[in-house]
Amino acid sequence: MIMEEQIKTSEIIIQINGKEVKAAEGMTVLEAARSADIFIPTLCHHEKLEPYGACRICTVEVEVRGWTSLVAACLYPVEKDLVVKTRSEKVDKIRKMILEFLLAHAPNSPQLQDLAQEYGADKDRFEKEASFCILCGLCVRYCAEVKKKNAVGFVECGARREIRFIPEIATKECVNCKECFELCPTSYLQAAFVLAESLAFSTDSPPTE
Ligand code: SF4
Ligand code: FES
Repeated sequence: MIMEEQIKTSEIIIQINGKEVKAAEGMTVLEAARSADIFIPTLCHHEKLEPYGACRICTVEVEVRGWTSLVAACLYPVEKDLVVKTRSEKVDKIRKMILEFLLAHAPNSPQLQDLAQEYGADKDRFEKEASFCILCGLCVRYCAEVKKKNAVGFVECGARREIRFIPEIATKECVNCKECFELCPTSYLQAAFVLAESLAFSTDSPPTE
């Protein structure tokens, strides 16, 4: 009984796309939307990982006490009387621009291509800087937060930032894991792993007689 009352007091009603949605205090807009089967695209979100807010493709329009703003749904907490629009002219425009920017880095990503079609993004809008990694951090965070291995990490800063496997850890830990591979929205992770493997093997000392 006490438990039931506690759940009720922490229940928050919000509105998403004109539909009333029950959410619990502490939930993000993305979690509330998903609980009501309302789709919001994500690229850097994973339910087992801490919110990261890197890609911004989950941008939605929120209105609270008469003020509207664009926020990242995977980070923004629900609050009483919140009104959310998951699609609007502003939302679609920002998602289109984000996709055009990301496609310059990873033009062959099927996930980006599908979203580009949905939002009418032009893959040639920005000059190609095909790094193939969109720095979503899913691989790095999954390995650190879920697997607790840190076999892959970010190196460098700014425009030179990239992910890299730590060959000494990767050759031991990744061979039987590879759980992060399917999380990568591009093909970069597998390529980086092959590179790490070849580096590790090329530095292996030759067998002694
Ligand atoms: S390699 Fe893939 S999963 Fe890792 S940060 Fe880059 S795009 Fe994300
Ligand atoms: S999914 Fe929200 S910022 Fe990437």
